[in-house]
Amino acid sequence: MTEDEIKLLSDYVRDYCGLLIHDSQELLFQKRVKKRVDANKLVSAKEYYHFLRFDSKWAEEMRELVNILTVNETYFFRESPHMEMFSNLLFRILKTRNTDKKILRIWSAACSNGAEPYSLAILIVESGMFPLNDWKIEIVGTDINTEMVRAARKGVFTASAFRITPAQLRDKYFKEIEKGCWEVDDKIKRMVSFSQMNLHSASQMRLVRDMDVILCRNVLIYFDDTGKKEVVERFYDSLAPEGYLVIGQSESLFRITNVYNIVPMGNAILYQREHESQTASASR
Ligand SMILES: C[S@@+](CC[C@H](N)C(=O)[O-])C[C@H]1O[C@@H](n2cnc3c(N)ncnc32)[C@H](O)[C@@H]1O
Repeated sequence: MTEDEIKLLSDYVRDYCGLLIHDSQELLFQKRVKKRVDANKLVSAKEYYHFLRFDSKWAEEMRELVNILTVNETYFFRESPHMEMFSNLLFRILKTRNTDKKILRIWSAACSNGAEPYSLAILIVESGMFPLNDWKIEIVGTDINTEMVRAARKGVFTASAFRITPAQLRDKYFKEIEKGCWEVDDKIKRMVSFSQMNLHSASQMRLVRDMDVILCRNVLIYFDDTGKKEVVERFYDSLAPEGYLVIGQSESLFRITNVYNIVPMGNAILYQREHESQTASASR
């Protein structure tokens, strides 16, 4: 691929879904693009770019390309300070706040194969604070990668997903369906729904509203600062008043946006939407 072709295609990918292709990733990027050029029986990366821009089947092809470009690393109960913060502090706050309506709404944005939202569902059940016959628990998992969304709906995981999960907890909520493969319990599965969503699409994100908590962990690192700002400020509108955004432990919104209140909770840092009576939009 020529430098021009790499730039055309990497800019196009960034504009579509926010993913930045760094110089050090160019070789891998070229290899993956070549796979798609060959799969479509095209002769060059330039021709592939034109296909993505102008062919009526561009959206399907973009899906295929994004599926091979994303990094989907995840596992159950990742980043234990977050998990402890939910179990020891945040669930109690949300229970008190929502006690009249008895609905709890959590969005795991960029959920990969579903380990993150299923972890939350398990923690909710383990907490004993939200009896399922009394509370409506809505956990939504979304990801841009259609293969990941399919895997998440299936709910079957191999040993690496349980690398930090105590065996006793795994055996309580999963059934070993074949050697080294565990399927999540139906009760947990029913608490989570999955769909494909591109966080770079304002029109798709506008469909999600009134969330008590949004988790967007270990994905903003792949975006540039402009992309990060757009996404996290759209999350603000998707949160209920006083709702919380949780980003990865190694991530920060410092110099990205100041629309949120920063709230330390246990060993975690949360980003909170203002109370209904206040507005942050003036400071955006
Ligand atoms: C490293 S995984 C993180 C999974 C999980 N949140 C965690 O922390 O374990 C990053 C995920 O972000 C998804 N992703 C990347 N760009 C996205 C976008 N524009 N919209 C939605 N999901 C995206 C990828 O497909 C991938 O599954």
